[in-house]
Amino acid sequence: MSLSFALVPGTPTTSPAEIARRLGADPGFGIHFTDHMAVAHWQAGQDWQDDQLTAYAPFPLDPAVTVLHYGQEVFEGLKAYRHADDSIWLFRPEMNARRFQRSSYRLDLPPISETDFLAAVEALVRADAAWVPGAEEQSLYIRPFTFASEGVLGVHSARRVTFAVIASPSGAYFASGLNPVDIWVTTTYSRAGSGGTGAAKCGGNYASSLLAAKEAEAHNCEQVLFTDAATHHWVEELGGMNLFFVTDDGELLTPPTSGTILEGVTRDSILQLAPQFDLRPVERPVALDEVLTRLEAGTITEALACGTAAVITPIRAFRFEREGAEAEAVVPQAFGPATKALRQRLVDIQWGRAADDFGWMRRII
Ligand code: COI
Repeated sequence: MSLSFALVPGTPTTSPAEIARRLGADPGFGIHFTDHMAVAHWQAGQDWQDDQLTAYAPFPLDPAVTVLHYGQEVFEGLKAYRHADDSIWLFRPEMNARRFQRSSYRLDLPPISETDFLAAVEALVRADAAWVPGAEEQSLYIRPFTFASEGVLGVHSARRVTFAVIASPSGAYFASGLNPVDIWVTTTYSRAGSGGTGAAKCGGNYASSLLAAKEAEAHNCEQVLFTDAATHHWVEELGGMNLFFVTDDGELLTPPTSGTILEGVTRDSILQLAPQFDLRPVERPVALDEVLTRLEAGTITEALACGTAAVITPIRAFRFEREGAEAEAVVPQAFGPATKALRQRLVDIQWGRAADDFGWMRRII
């Protein structure tokens, strides 16, 4: 039976004037939360149940709850966009629903069906539509997640699990906005190994990226780039984003996801948009040495990071350690023409300013 996430009567709703006052001109990223959250529970041997749309509030958690000890958790990130005519749309939410199922499978959490995932997201966006910002580059960031909520210390898959969706009106992910970012290439830390959880969107991948992010910060970089765990020879992905290169012969190059890299929705969208800008999408292993040599030679002309939160972010330079010293490879065209064109087309589709040729947008209101 499908879930409906019916609104619990009597939950408080913030007035549009108060929302505007709280958010100000720039809501930042992931700081403010809307009035409601969708919640459902699961226990072994039963279907998902107790689905409701209730007031945004803390969860009562047993201190022994499995997620706090063993990290059995998965999450998603997608956005709702307010168009000029005040209609509200989601971008490819079924891609998130399907990835959520794959992530749940990998973490041995009960999957939530695509229909139920979409029902929860849509119920929340409908109830909290007043929180979807209308300003340039602002949207409602939606965060579905499932976590093990059984209070036992034995290491086994949880027999009680909670699914929830919360939402946060958000602006740019990076404080620097659209300024090209610097990337630190770490060979100290790894993000994912063969057979691991690299392709799953689970908290542990992000927790293990934090120390590497500190290393990046210490080198004045906004993001960290991970190479493959076995050899540190191949570039994989950033702390929370996929990576693309533009070459002087018209390739749009990215490493294949093949188990260790997150299958990004923005990544997939960029690959599909590429031919419209005379770019040939190429997914193949990319060696770090190739990147550095080609940046130097100017045959990689642009580099960009992408993800739902950060959209498309141009890269200025890669920094790395070589023979004990810090070195830098500068991207010839930071925020060059291909990056600009892809980003503009993507945001134009998302905000309803360009034709939705691929049928990516789903109207909610
Ligand atoms: C996203 O782009 O949605 C992400 O999940 C990245 C980060 C905010 C965790």
